[in-house]
Order: sequence, then C-alpha cells, then structure tokens
Amino acid sequence: MKALREELQGLELRDDEASRATWGHDESDQGDFLPELVVFARDAAEVSRVVRACVKHRVPLTPVGARTGKSGGSLPIKGGVSLSLEKMNRIVEIRPGDLTATVQPGVVLGDFQRAVEERGLFYPPDPNSAPNCTLGGNIAENAGGPSALKYGVTRDYVLGLEWVLPTGEVMRVGRQTIKGVAGYDLVGLFVGSEGTLGIATEITLKLLPRPRVVMTALLPFTDVLAAARAVNAVLLGGLLPRCLELLDDVALAAVKGKGVPFPEGAGAVIIAELDGSSEEGVFAELNLLASIAKDHGSLDAQIAVDRDQRERLWATRRMVSPALRELQKYKFSEDIVVPRSRVPEAIARFKAIGDELGLTVATYGHAGDGNLHTNVLYRSPADRPRVEVALERLMKETVNLGGTITGEHGVGIAKKRFLSLEQSPGVIDLQRALKVMLDPDVILNPGKIFPDA
Ligand code: LAC
Ligand code: ZN
Repeated sequence: MKALREELQGLELRDDEASRATWGHDESDQGDFLPELVVFARDAAEVSRVVRACVKHRVPLTPVGARTGKSGGSLPIKGGVSLSLEKMNRIVEIRPGDLTATVQPGVVLGDFQRAVEERGLFYPPDPNSAPNCTLGGNIAENAGGPSALKYGVTRDYVLGLEWVLPTGEVMRVGRQTIKGVAGYDLVGLFVGSEGTLGIATEITLKLLPRPRVVMTALLPFTDVLAAARAVNAVLLGGLLPRCLELLDDVALAAVKGKGVPFPEGAGAVIIAELDGSSEEGVFAELNLLASIAKDHGSLDAQIAVDRDQRERLWATRRMVSPALRELQKYKFSEDIVVPRSRVPEAIARFKAIGDELGLTVATYGHAGDGNLHTNVLYRSPADRPRVEVALERLMKETVNLGGTITGEHGVGIAKKRFLSLEQSPGVIDLQRALKVMLDPDVILNPGKIFPDA
C-alpha cells in the first residue's frame, strides 16, 4: 500500500477513519467493508493511472459513485482502494437537435434530469434515488425504476461510453447516433457489469422529447391481490402508463404519517402515471384506467392535479425503502421479477413464507413490470438464520415462477449465492471467462456477482 500511495502522488487521497467508514457503507444492508484508501479521480487519465497502479501492486480496486446501491456493488469487500468518480460531475453537452447528451459519471441523476427538462427533453430512468445517485452508478447497475414500464431501463439509453478497462487501457465503445449495429454490443455488455469489467469515464445518452402532459392517480384497494390483478387488467385494457407502482399494507404502514395521507381502509394502493401530448387525451386515458381499476375492486381514485401534488406523492413513494427499515430496524430489500401474470401468485407466496417463518414481508414496487421489492423485515441479528431461510425460499419461488433474482439492483454480494438457482454452470463459467479475459489479475471489484468457488 505504501508503494501504491507513492505512485498515486498528486491525486486526492484519503485514509482517515471517517472517510474509510463512509466509503465502506452503502444502502444494501450487507454490512460495512472499509477500503484502506479512497482515491478521487478528475478525468479518464487519472482513472487509468489508478487502475494501472493497482494492477501493478496487486491491490483490489472498487469503483464507487454515490453509495446508494442496493446489492453491495460498490463495497470494497477485499479492502484496497475505493475509486470515487463523484468529482467527475460535469454535464459535457446537451444536444437538443440530436436528442443526445454527453456526461461524466459523477453527475447526479436529478441534476441531469432537470437540465434536460429545461430544454424540453426527457431522460426517464430513475432508481428512485435521483436526488443522490450518479449516472455512473446507474450505468454500472443498469438502473431501472418506476418509469421502466413504458420507457425501459438505463441500458436502453446508453449509446456510447468512454471506458477504462481493468488493465487501464482507455477506449471508446458504442456510438453517438441513435441507431447503429456495428460489431458486438459492447455497450450492452458493459452497462450493468457492476463495476467488474471497467469504469465509465464519459457517457453518451439518448434523450426523448419531454411529454407535454403528465397525470398521476392514486388507486386504493382493500386487498393487495386485487390491486395486483388490476395492474394486469390495465395493461390488457390497452393502456401503457409510464408507471404502475404497487404498495402493500406493510409499505403503507411504514410511510403512514410521513408523506401524503393514504385513504383510510386502504390495504394497498396503485400509483398510476400516464403521459402524452394533450390534456384531454391523457385525462381520458386516466378515466379509463380508473374505471378498469374500479371493475377490479378499487375504491375511489384520487388524482394529483398539479406538479406539486405529484411530487409529494412520489416523495412518499421514495420514502418507502428507508421507512421500512425504521419499522423493524433491519431488512433485506429484494428486487425480484416474475412474469406479469404471476405477480398476484408471487405476492401471496411471499406473504405465506413470512407467515410460516414468523417474519414480516412487505411488497411494493414496479408491479407493472412484474418487478417487486419484496422486503424481509427483522428486529435483531438473532433473527438472521430465519431471514436467510426466508430469502432462499423467496428466490426459489421466484425462479420456479419463471422469474429472475434481480430486476434492477444487481447481484453484487447480496445475491451471488442465488445466481446458480437461475443460471446454469455453463452460463456462469462463460461470464467468469469474460471477466478473466478483461481482468486477468482480478483486480477490479473482486468477489462480486459470481458464487464463491
Ligand atoms: C425503489 C428502489 C428500492 O424502487 O429500487 O424504491
Ligand atoms: Zn425499484
């Protein structure tokens, strides 16, 4: 480490206890793993220099954005260096005529969204942490979020990358244009590689025209299963809202008294958001949606009439994750996905697992995508063995229903022990081989994604 420090002279380095503790923690509830050294890079050349130095001295290197990750992707579990990209936070260029933009990885998502919206443009992906998370982190994890239902996930918006390989070599992959099929899809491979195949130092993103009208409705139900069935009915009714979010009774209890009040007697709610180009058109769709929901047991819909009310509703939705932790102190937050038609069945099975094991299971999230944040809550570390049983059963049920163990948070360290439930040994070996080809000394973010040997 001493030799490495000397090699990194001139860069901003921190190794005080407080910094190490800060960069040793994220939002994943996976525990703390302190780096020995935190390094801040200001450009691609510095990133490359840090990577080469770590390879030379065989020191593990973990890239990190804003530490809002949910799977432990940026935790330096083998110690070594945390490489922070947060100071590379410049929006390089927004090109309204091309509907594209170029950014550095440390740009905060919310800042970027505001900047493009001011120009009549729209960047939809948001993992519900826009005020804090960075675009580099979104790229590493292929972040999704509520509007993925209509608009897809981060990968659908990344056109090109300036990318530092795990050897320190800097290259540009992808393109600047909206369409393009030359060669293998390396951008597709790198986006979502969870900091294991390289580091984005510049990102070219696709933008959309900003929808002129957005309307949001809150649909209360007495029962979560009825709400889940209504989600499917809306889609089968020919509507494609930008969001169809579900909150069950536990999620509602967690945010009670904190954000917007939900109707008395609601055992679940759907937040539905529609967008389009005319007030009349969107309003007509919203009414149709409300009537389909009513046919499936919804109580009276409440409509957020202005931007302020919408923002308060979404602020409450963003509170769900932290508020659930306050309910019982500890929790694991999953992000499984099942085929849409199996959502009601999945929710019922997960609740049953909780009941059998005496644990509180909350379900909320992106029901329109079949992507559920099933949370297992617990009060003390002594409950951990039971929680582990619950998580394993939850993952098995998910895979049995035709689903996947992670829809947006990534595997990281949180789900690596479950990867082989879903992927064959051949598929896992192929991915390991790719990793070793690009990172022969396994320096970059070691110990992530794949099950321990
Ligand atoms: C959310 C995060 C937890 O949707 O994915 O709130
Ligand atoms: Zn989510």
